Amino acid sequence: MSIAAQTSADAARKIFESVYGGAPTGIWAAPGRVNVIGEHTDYNEGFVLPMGIDRYTAVAAAPRLDGVLRLISSGGSTGVVEIPLAAIEPGAQQDWTAYPAGVAWALSGAGALAPGFTGADLAYSSSVPVGSGLSSSAALECATGLALTGLAGQPISPAELARLTQLAENRYAGVPCGPLDQLSSAFAAADAVLHIDTRSFDIAIHPFALAESGLALLVMNTKVQHSHGESGYAERRATCEAAARTMEVSALRDLTSADLERAAAKLDEVSLRRVRHVVTENERVSRFVSLLQLGPLEGPRLNSAGELLTSSHTSLRDDYEVSCEELDVVVDAALRGGAHGARMTGGGFGGCAIALVSADRLDRVAETVSDALPGAELFTVAADRGAFQVY
Ligand code: GLA
Repeated sequence: MSIAAQTSADAARKIFESVYGGAPTGIWAAPGRVNVIGEHTDYNEGFVLPMGIDRYTAVAAAPRLDGVLRLISSGGSTGVVEIPLAAIEPGAQQDWTAYPAGVAWALSGAGALAPGFTGADLAYSSSVPVGSGLSSSAALECATGLALTGLAGQPISPAELARLTQLAENRYAGVPCGPLDQLSSAFAAADAVLHIDTRSFDIAIHPFALAESGLALLVMNTKVQHSHGESGYAERRATCEAAARTMEVSALRDLTSADLERAAAKLDEVSLRRVRHVVTENERVSRFVSLLQLGPLEGPRLNSAGELLTSSHTSLRDDYEVSCEELDVVVDAALRGGAHGARMTGGGFGGCAIALVSADRLDRVAETVSDALPGAELFTVAADRGAFQVY
């Protein structure tokens, strides 16, 4: 088992034992994610290429009989929070507990918890950085979903887990995200990336054992999160949906580069740039996947993969306008330091960027990035498995 998952699981167990007394019935864990390429395509029913990372949220849990959820997190400043199951409704929580409460709400609404489910004690520990675009909320949701269904004795498939946790995030936490994060956390596989068609939810798994090819994936956490990110996300989404209507397709996924000339005649300048990003990004995902299908990334294939990452960033920066100064600074610095390619990952407006780096250049790249943005937190990640029961 992954050491990362085990470490979080052991920490969750310790919290459980010291807060609630006794041993948990089980411990479940779910990873954060890095999206390798395919950004802002998921709510356009397009393609994404994420991987789970070796950073986990684990939850130690045991059933209760009094209709109450009790929650505590190593990262939460609130101590134990008690939420009666009867009081679970969208809007009732405003802090991190809205995510697990939302999962309980979505699961019971779908009949995914046994009728006799009567509450739980939950203790969380996480190594996924919060609010950095690495999907700490999806990790929290997926770990919770497995734990609650596990306690209820109702097995859940990864597809249902992803669907219901996304529903919790959309309707309960009020975040209008697409399915990328929850699908990644639910389906991730060790040493692999997931090629996901977000229309059909078809998933193809491709080997991505970077270390074996002498490569590393460096995460560059800018540690900034610009406040206009939330409105910016909703606005991009609305622009895409309106453009799809104007272009008379059900989603932008149905357009290709060949349609861009026609789009130019019908759309305003900003919408056209948004559409161009989505269309070219979907095409970059399929080109990246074609490279992976030819074998491990090396030689000219590695150069091409790096170029696709960097052109994804350029498109997100110039056409989609979801990057920010700090993300541009770390991406440029990584490239100057000798990375094969680099790009922002996740929703943007702050958070993290990634760089594909030869292992023997890692120190040099990290140094260049640290000089350029001294506050950045740098670490490498490996592709790790999706949500599972640890004990
Ligand atoms: C956020 C959302 C995802 C996805 C990405 C952008 O992470 O939660 O659904 O839209 O942004 O690719």
